[in-house]
Parts: sequence; structure tokens; C-alpha cells
Amino acid sequence: MAPSVATDLFADVPHTPGAPKRDAILVADNVVRRFGGLTAVDIEHVEIQRGAITALIGPNGAGKTTFFNLLTGFDRANSGTWTFEGQQLSGHPPYQVARAGMVRTFQLTKALTRIPVIENMRLGATNQRGEHLWRSWLPFLWNQQERSITDRAEQLLARFKLDHMRDEYAGELSGGQRKLLEMARALMAEPTMVMLDEPMAGVNPALTQSLLGHVKDLRTLGMTVLFVEHDMDMVRDISDWVIVMAEGRIVAEGPPEAVMADQAVIDAYLGSHHDAPLTEAEEERQLAEIGAELFAEPASNDTTGAEETTPASGEPR
Ligand SMILES: Nc1ncnc2c1ncn2[C@@H]1O[C@H](COP(=O)(O)OP(=O)(O)OP(=O)(O)O)[C@@H](O)[C@H]1O
Ligand SMILES: [Mg+2]
Repeated sequence: MAPSVATDLFADVPHTPGAPKRDAILVADNVVRRFGGLTAVDIEHVEIQRGAITALIGPNGAGKTTFFNLLTGFDRANSGTWTFEGQQLSGHPPYQVARAGMVRTFQLTKALTRIPVIENMRLGATNQRGEHLWRSWLPFLWNQQERSITDRAEQLLARFKLDHMRDEYAGELSGGQRKLLEMARALMAEPTMVMLDEPMAGVNPALTQSLLGHVKDLRTLGMTVLFVEHDMDMVRDISDWVIVMAEGRIVAEGPPEAVMADQAVIDAYLGSHHDAPLTEAEEERQLAEIGAELFAEPASNDTTGAEETTPASGEPR
């Protein structure tokens, strides 16, 4: 694997939760979100390095999505503050967060299925301040702005190989294409930081490489990426830095190899699903188990084929 272009940004960063970064774009302090008696997020301090790809991992229910929701204004923290590019953003609504340059995608895609792909894209543009005034008083400038939004949308659709779907309803797209559309739409806001919540979940293997490529491109283009993912191959492949959350807190940080080799992280957070090479004995045991299943008498309440995987809430792989 080629060394990451951003690796040296982390050369002096200690492998500890809340580690200070060389050039942090996002800094959060004492962020707490409670749901009734449950503390979903309780982050003392975290910094995200500018221009790098950071993975946020941790078991189901660790608080990753809730933390995304708080940072991007889709949910309100009980307490805590954060700055983005030095600007206080805590408590700001999503459209202000997007205008500041921080956009996100959703774990369950939010493409509007009953409007065309191109309109989904156009809705991602955030610079449509004072639409009505522009339209009624300055039709020439309005039209010009409309045209440049459409041009940008078309360029992005071409880059994401969705241009042939331009006029289709977004509902016609496959799961993987919707993930691509969401990423493309996020870029309409011309962000400096992109936050992706499980970009690989539900993506057909045929689109996996192209999705990975698009995420790496964001870094090449100078953007900062923070992504949540259960797919450990993806985490290992593209992240420069990994932050581990469990029960609302940050419990480990470090480069992917170090974090994934950390026995405490493996035991507590990746559990038996960690995809370390199997020992011979474990392989024997699993083969025996598969054999037993294959040759077992079918159960009377047969559920064969009924179970579809739901990667969005899947275990770490
Ligand atoms: N709106 C809500 N109301 C009540 N509880 C919530 C709400 N949103 C999240 N939670 C709870 O907060 C905890 C953190 O959930 P969150 O969705 O942030 O986890 P996650 O790390 O994203 O998990 P996953 O990997 O499964 O997506 C969970 O226990 C969840 O049930
Ligand atoms: Mg989540």
C-alpha cells in the first residue's frame, strides 16, 4: 500500500485520546448529549487534523452518529463547545454549519427520491442567500447564479459517473449510487470539511473501489475528511488517523495500524469480528461449524434466505 500523503502530519502526535494536532480544523470540548438516562456522547476534548482523512470507529451505539449530528447542527448538545476554522459553531443550525464549510452525509441516505438527480444536486448549493430578492430585483444576476449552480452540479455528476442519471428520479438509483449522489451533493456546498457517516454501508462491491477513490480525491483536493465506518478494510486502506469511541467517549487514537493492533481496542471494541488473520485452530473450528450447518437437517420453521444483511447497523467487520 502506498504511504498516505498526510502521514507526516501526525508524526509527533501522541497516540492518546484527545491528542492535540499540528493544525486542527475542528476542536471540540466537553461535548455532552444525553437521551433520558443515557449519555450518548461525552467527549472531553478532540481535535481533527486539517487536510487528512480521519476515521471515527467504535461499536454500534458508541455515539458516532450522535456526535456527527451535534457538530453539524442536526441535534443540540446538553453542553459543550466547538470551533471550526477557529469560528464558534456550537448551537448553529445546519445551513450555517454548511456555509461555514462543514457538510455531512447520512448513515441512511437522504436523497430525495421523488425529485430528479440534478435537482437533488442543486439543493446542495448553499450560496442561495436572499433568493427572492435576487429573483425579483436582479433577474440577470439570479439567472447567472442559477446557471453556475447547474454547471457545477453537472460537473460533479460527471465526476461521480452519475451524469447518465441526471434527469432520473433519485429513487431510481441503486443504494451505492445514492451514496455517491449524497457525496456529490455534499460537494455542491464547496466544503472544506466533509463528514461521511458509513459511506460504504449498503454499497455493492462493484462500487467500492470507486467510492474509496472519491474519498481519497477529497483529500487530494485539500479537503478534510472525517468518516464513520465499520468496514475495517476501508479504515485501514484510506485513513491517516483513527479515533475510537465507545459508550460516548473517545477511548483511543492513533494511526490505523497502531489502533487496530491495540489489544484493548480489539477486545473491547472490535470484539470477535476483528478481521485479524485466523489462527489454524480457529479456522478448523469455523470450518467445522460451517460443515455442521451445511449438512444439518433443515429446521421445520425454515428461514432460508430470509435474512438480508443490514450493513448500516452491522457489526464491525
Ligand atoms: N434520538 C434519540 N433518542 C434516544 N436515544 C438515542 C437517540 N439517538 C441515539 N440514541 C442512542 O444514543 C446511543 C448512540 O447512538 P448513535 O446512533 O450515535 O451510535 P453509533 O455509534 O452511530 O452506532 P451505529 O454504529 O450503530 O450507527 C445509542 O444508545 C442510541 O440508542
Ligand atoms: Mg451511526
